Amino acid sequence: MSKRVYIESYGCQMNFSDSEIVASILVKDGYTPVKSAEEADLVLLNTCSIREKAEYTVLQRINEMNNLKARNKGLKVGVLGCMAERMREDLLEKKKVVDLVVGPDAYRTLPDLLSKVGTGQKAVNVLLSREETYGEIEPMRLDSNGVTAFVTIMRGCDNMCAFCVVPFTRGRERSRDPNTIVEECKQLVASGYGEVTLLGQNVDSYKWSAKDDGATQRVDFADLLAMVAEACPLLRIRYSTSHPKDMTDKVLEVMARYPNICKYIHLPVQSGSSEVLMRMNRGYDRAWYLERIASIRKHMPDCAISTDLISGFCGETEEDHEQTLSLMEEVGYDMAYMFKYSERPKTLAARKYADDVPEDVKSRRLQEIIDLQKRKSAERMATHVGAVLEVLVEGVSKRSAEHMYGRSTQNAVVIVPRHVDGQELLPGTLVRTRIMSATAGSLLGRVLEIVMLSLPKHEPTSKVTLRQAQGDNTVVA
Ligand code: 5AD
Ligand code: SF4
Repeated sequence: MSKRVYIESYGCQMNFSDSEIVASILVKDGYTPVKSAEEADLVLLNTCSIREKAEYTVLQRINEMNNLKARNKGLKVGVLGCMAERMREDLLEKKKVVDLVVGPDAYRTLPDLLSKVGTGQKAVNVLLSREETYGEIEPMRLDSNGVTAFVTIMRGCDNMCAFCVVPFTRGRERSRDPNTIVEECKQLVASGYGEVTLLGQNVDSYKWSAKDDGATQRVDFADLLAMVAEACPLLRIRYSTSHPKDMTDKVLEVMARYPNICKYIHLPVQSGSSEVLMRMNRGYDRAWYLERIASIRKHMPDCAISTDLISGFCGETEEDHEQTLSLMEEVGYDMAYMFKYSERPKTLAARKYADDVPEDVKSRRLQEIIDLQKRKSAERMATHVGAVLEVLVEGVSKRSAEHMYGRSTQNAVVIVPRHVDGQELLPGTLVRTRIMSATAGSLLGRVLEIVMLSLPKHEPTSKVTLRQAQGDNTVVA
């Protein structure tokens, strides 16, 4: 009898990537992915703990599962990911609707756990691992546009930033065998994909070593980037996330050297105040961060830079906040993800500092940060007008069926006409465009030349929809 699974994914790109690994494991176990919870025998929620609001959204969704179960008695419900790790048995005890709780390093045991669930028992595995990278598992691409894909290169985080729950939910840092990463990228090219994003919590501390005929092969992140860029010259390569304390000039040199490595860096700063950065345990101060920005600009003057910012961290004064605004002015980010500080249990900040910035002050500061970033984003977008940019077409524009959208190497969204000289621009096509105008969110391009037609189209590997969590305090400008 075929078993139908629906996976709903919340939070970061890493979770989406993990859901693709889970799907691959379950398909081998006889499951068929479906595109709604209503059609499924098994619903898996792949969850996020980064902020309280993210958890709240998922807890609401778990409650909704009661209605589904009332209609479908055979339905099983599982919680995966960071909340599974953080809340463990609590979920099984307090949320009766939950049958299965599985942490991010235990997905290989899903088939066994599901057999147990099949006999009417509840099942849990939240063991974290120092080795698990799911290295050789080929992810099943879910909800894919057939053009861009995520490739996980490492898991976990050893940094212990004071505000962050990730080291507790995703465990120790470990890197994936570079050969399996290159193989996965080659496979993607063979399936018609035009772009990958290499994912890790802190890609700059990627490191791998292996003994080969007595000699030790060592691969750091810069080496890995070069390996992928050389092995897949037709593939655009992005990565996320960098850490300012670990980002080396060697990485910047490799980025500058290979045209297929996108000129875009996400470099979370979190705060512009050195005192706050120290309390956050970030391992750098304002001057260090600005030096890293200067180095990026020196190596790649046209490189786009985005960041993450937190307003209202413990002890943040008005002066600290002003420093964040002045750093934003100075750097001129192309884009930013902006958050209000949310205290997370067990973290260094929760144990050591009072969450003492009042909610209304956090909100007001966040709003000032958002307003400034909106202005900066618009300024940065305007600098592209008149430029010639290469755009990888990803899909039909949401606003107009006669237009397609894609991204420039700097990750700016560019809208282009769907037809050029009678030829339809299919997803995966690479075009050279002249930028005619800009809004805060996108650029409008005129196609000068089709650089590369999309590679032969293939059927998407599944029709599963991954629903992105709404209601978190993430703001993108
Ligand atoms: N509160 C608010 N924002 C947080 N982030 C991580 N932990 C918290 C928290 N407790 C933000 C950081 C990080 C991004 C992924 O989420 O800015 O870079
Ligand atoms: Fe969290 Fe810091 Fe690790 Fe990022 S680098 S996942 S913010 S601990």
